[in-house]
Amino acid sequence: MPLDRKQAAARLTELRREIDHHAHRYYVLDDPVISDGEYDRLFRELLDLEAAWPELISPDSPSLRVGGAVLAGFTTVAHRLPMLSLENVVSVAGIEDFEQRMRRFLGADAALSYVAEPKLDGLAVELVYEDGLLVLAATRGDGRRGEDISANIRTMPMIPLRLRNDKGKPPPLLEVRGEVFMDRAAFAALNHRRFLDKEPLFANPRNAAAGSLRQLDPMIAAGRSLDFYPYGVAEADSLGLDRHSEVMLRLTDFGFKVNPHVRTCDDIAAVAAHFSRLAGLRSTLPYEIDGMVVKVDSLELQARLGVKTRSPRWAVAWKFPAVQATTVLHAVEFSVGRTGAVTPVAALKPVEIGGVTVSRASLHNVTELRRKDLRLGDTVLIQRAGDVIPEVVKAVTENRDGSQEPVTVPETCPVCGTTLELPEDEVILRCPSLACPAQKLRALAHFCGKNGLDIEGLGARAVEQLFEAGLIADVVDLFSLKKQDLETLPGWGAKSAAKAITALEKAGMTRMSRLLTALGIRFVGEVTGSLLEKHFKTIERLAAADFEQLAAIEGIGPQIAKSVVDFFADPGNRERIAALQKNGIKLQPPDESGALLAGKVFLFTGSLRISRSEAKTRVLELGGQVVSALSRRVDYLVCGEKPGSKRDKAIAAGVTVLSETEFIDLIA
Ligand code: IVH
Repeated sequence: MPLDRKQAAARLTELRREIDHHAHRYYVLDDPVISDGEYDRLFRELLDLEAAWPELISPDSPSLRVGGAVLAGFTTVAHRLPMLSLENVVSVAGIEDFEQRMRRFLGADAALSYVAEPKLDGLAVELVYEDGLLVLAATRGDGRRGEDISANIRTMPMIPLRLRNDKGKPPPLLEVRGEVFMDRAAFAALNHRRFLDKEPLFANPRNAAAGSLRQLDPMIAAGRSLDFYPYGVAEADSLGLDRHSEVMLRLTDFGFKVNPHVRTCDDIAAVAAHFSRLAGLRSTLPYEIDGMVVKVDSLELQARLGVKTRSPRWAVAWKFPAVQATTVLHAVEFSVGRTGAVTPVAALKPVEIGGVTVSRASLHNVTELRRKDLRLGDTVLIQRAGDVIPEVVKAVTENRDGSQEPVTVPETCPVCGTTLELPEDEVILRCPSLACPAQKLRALAHFCGKNGLDIEGLGARAVEQLFEAGLIADVVDLFSLKKQDLETLPGWGAKSAAKAITALEKAGMTRMSRLLTALGIRFVGEVTGSLLEKHFKTIERLAAADFEQLAAIEGIGPQIAKSVVDFFADPGNRERIAALQKNGIKLQPPDESGALLAGKVFLFTGSLRISRSEAKTRVLELGGQVVSALSRRVDYLVCGEKPGSKRDKAIAAGVTVLSETEFIDLIA
């Protein structure tokens, strides 16, 4: 019996309350009390009812988490009260000074106690709640006016759309302020995806979070795994509380997830102790922090201390020592990669940055190098962000005294001497010679490595050893290796040699798609490799294809098509493939159950018991496609353990959600 309007309204209220409750248990408390399946069922029921009764969709419905309409632009909104910034200190002396200044202001006997909180490296936002309902979310902007990013913020499952009121009613107006950030894992995953999709990478989690909040399509923001910690409210006394620490507890009651490392400290010694604790914890935290914020706990004293033009007198940021440093640029070295890309690397006077000695730093590519206009002997600014490779930010030109010399970009390959090429629409200088030893070595390492045939026992170091010993000069030589060749090499023995030979034989039984990927054809990765295999079935047919045939395939753009044609136009490559097939590669026939998943698009989330690459390979083999972000094209979301927010978004978007077991049943 379908529900009438009144029944539907009542059921919707109930569903919203339940879904909200369970999302809070899951995302805020990290302590779910129902199974994913039960949760999915509730969400589906809500969506079905809302679809039947669109006029009953409420402004706090969990279905808002999915994203909704694409915006034309962001509107500017004024903050009712300005969003201030903080003054910095960098030492215990600095923090003691901060206290002395306040004592001069308040009188020597003021009862000062503090709250010390991690300083999150993200973006400040303001969330405006009217009668408990989230009505607006805005960026800090210039402190007075920011941008309305409500649609993006609403997709974040740890941000209440309606404040919880089980521990007391929220005030008519509450402006919550806090930091939106991206944790390290989400940042790494996002950049990895962008790398595979050949999109520019984000320099750090902060930029990634900023870029995500600035998406006009909330669905994209929804897929970006943003996180949020509140750090205060605009007008704390509106809550009728006496202390900042109480405000933070109140925010927990309202349904926010408050950072677990917020501490009350009775005096500056306790503040300093917490700073040391956080500094020690820093590298183990799942997100980046750049210091600690120290706030006077008493709201009355905060009010008495007041604010200066841009920052309050009652709070200060105690920053960790900089992860930037200046040093001298000694030389620029040029290294040649697998595809012949020539990468400039800065050789530096060793300098310590954040506890690590740095003597080399990335210059990315020659176009970047020219743009930075570095000179040998320059003082340069270096930075290290998290675990990424240190990079040269810029030259400190003020320090030039005329003795600095321009960097000469080589015209010929530093390894093989071939004239280098820099195609007009590209930023990367390349050695075009297929005979270049540097490229050969890197190509060999790729061929044997994880993204190639994944040959056990032949890691990058072993490959280099064999290459230098003259045992392998090309991938073709791999399959002629004998146990006797290997066992006498330093560090090898009969056992490891036998193992490597067996691994080689096993790796030779591979699929066409895998071989194509291993060969390192530019722009041909796993997905493209599978498309090509599906389409052409044999390498011979692929080699005979022309540009038009290739470019006509859905999913193969002109760039890929050209790269494939160029690759097979080279007789050396054709010979190489023929030799590989003669010596050791036995291509396995494609799975002819083929069409089972034809046209179906899969997305994986959470940790699976089988490996991601296995899951992906199976889908591709069955004719399906695998993508790395939620979009309207996705047919199935396969959830492993801890699926995170993608699951809700997928359900809300009408995507079929499968458990790992269901997925395995499907592909079996
Ligand atoms: S309090 C008036 N607390 O740091 C107090 N800020 O340099 C204003 N930030 O724009 C901010 N973690 O984006 C505060 N626990 C924390 C913070 C924090 C990060 C950021 C925030 C602010 C900037 C000020």
